[in-house]
Amino acid sequence: MSDVPHVQSSQNRLLIKGGRVVNDDQSFEADVFIEDGIIKEVGSNLTVPGGTKTIEAKDKLVIPGGIDPHTHLNLNCMGMNTADDFYSGTKAALAGGTTMIMDFAIAHKGESLVEVYDKYRELADSKVCCDYGLHVGVSSWDDKVGTEMETLTKEKGINSFKTYLAYEENMLEDDELYRVYNKCRDIGALAMVHAENGKIIQMKAKELIDIGVTGPEGHVLSRPEERAITIANQANCPLYVVHVMSKSAAKVVSVARRKGQVVLGEALAAGLGTDGTNYWNKCWRHAAGYVMSPPLRPDSSTPGYLMDLLANGDLQCTGSDNCTFNADQKAIGKDDFRLIPNGVNGLEDRMSVVWEKGVHSGKMDPCRFVAATSTAAAKVFNIYPKKGRIAAGSDADVVVWNPNETRTISAKTHNHAVDFNIFEGMICHGVPEVVITRGHVVVEDGQVNKPCKVEREPYTGPVIQVGAGT
Ligand code: URP
Ligand code: ZN
Ligand code: ZN
Repeated sequence: MSDVPHVQSSQNRLLIKGGRVVNDDQSFEADVFIEDGIIKEVGSNLTVPGGTKTIEAKDKLVIPGGIDPHTHLNLNCMGMNTADDFYSGTKAALAGGTTMIMDFAIAHKGESLVEVYDKYRELADSKVCCDYGLHVGVSSWDDKVGTEMETLTKEKGINSFKTYLAYEENMLEDDELYRVYNKCRDIGALAMVHAENGKIIQMKAKELIDIGVTGPEGHVLSRPEERAITIANQANCPLYVVHVMSKSAAKVVSVARRKGQVVLGEALAAGLGTDGTNYWNKCWRHAAGYVMSPPLRPDSSTPGYLMDLLANGDLQCTGSDNCTFNADQKAIGKDDFRLIPNGVNGLEDRMSVVWEKGVHSGKMDPCRFVAATSTAAAKVFNIYPKKGRIAAGSDADVVVWNPNETRTISAKTHNHAVDFNIFEGMICHGVPEVVITRGHVVVEDGQVNKPCKVEREPYTGPVIQVGAGT
């Protein structure tokens, strides 16, 4: 996890006054005093040092910054980098009220997990505007993989490993999965799964191409609903099912939980806020803009169903799976849907979509909203109560949320580097008016502050001469 916010404020003391503090388990009127990046006190009539900057929060909610447990910033897919990198992605996150992301360092078959982890750290550390964590993707199994998983857990603080049942370059056979899950159990890490059915998808996709279905609708038609998981249970290993997109997958998670299995389910902003009817849009660019895996389901009642389960606790976390590609990148697959790079936006709009479809619709209360967008992820990935709670001693990742304000989502105004937004035109109640990351105010009046220059002494040491034979 990095602690290098790029956007800085000269203030090291803040008082958020008159708001309603909302945690996952209670809400109450209180002021919040922040000093040096940490919440120092929460209560009434606080005595604070002179010069403390005051943020008025009357009639507003003071909530823990969002935690997005599922992003892909700087992912290289089919030789193309995502439109959003760790800078634009985390800037967009902050604009939307998310103050921590968890991305994936994905090792392809045969690659060293530790080297891939180091590479992602390097990519992210110099660019992120907020705290981040990494999951590591495991795409093969041998003793070295097992040893590296142990090293990552013991020495680098990694506590979650993603496995794939889809994508040729990543997917594991059942015996390999079993070994990875046994290792996760032994080292106390959480296993994550992308639960599609890669081999069936390959066959169905080819059948569709052969009969001339080459457009984005072929993507969803070739992908049956996600395959259920029993292997983790056999290994007695807790399992986190990423991007639960269909009713059937959500039901599998619910039923497993009722049976007492430790299974956690992640909804996505995309799955809650839009649906797969878009794959039949007459505009190719529009339809391709929604191509992601698992796909959005064409049944327009699926988003509401997934929201019901997020509200009642059958699904616990909400991610974005932010993995953005511009029109010219998606267009690689203009004649063959199998080549369209998979992924959509959601990092900036995740909180607003959950508020709109969850709280504004009357399905969840603000405490459950905080749980679903922040606290559950903090607990699952072992960063609670440093993150995910407004309390003395927690990191000052705080959002002043105005439930009475609205905004309209649009690619024209979003902070992402991508040219498309899957929620285009959606009016959302609930606006992150002030966003604070580690005590720095980075969004005020809903606007992202410009990064400010760090004043420093000029460097006076030696400078290498490029091309001078050194
Ligand atoms: O379409 C998606 N989801 N792209 C990102 C990769 C993944 O499977 O999470
Ligand atoms: Zn996935
Ligand atoms: Zn993903």
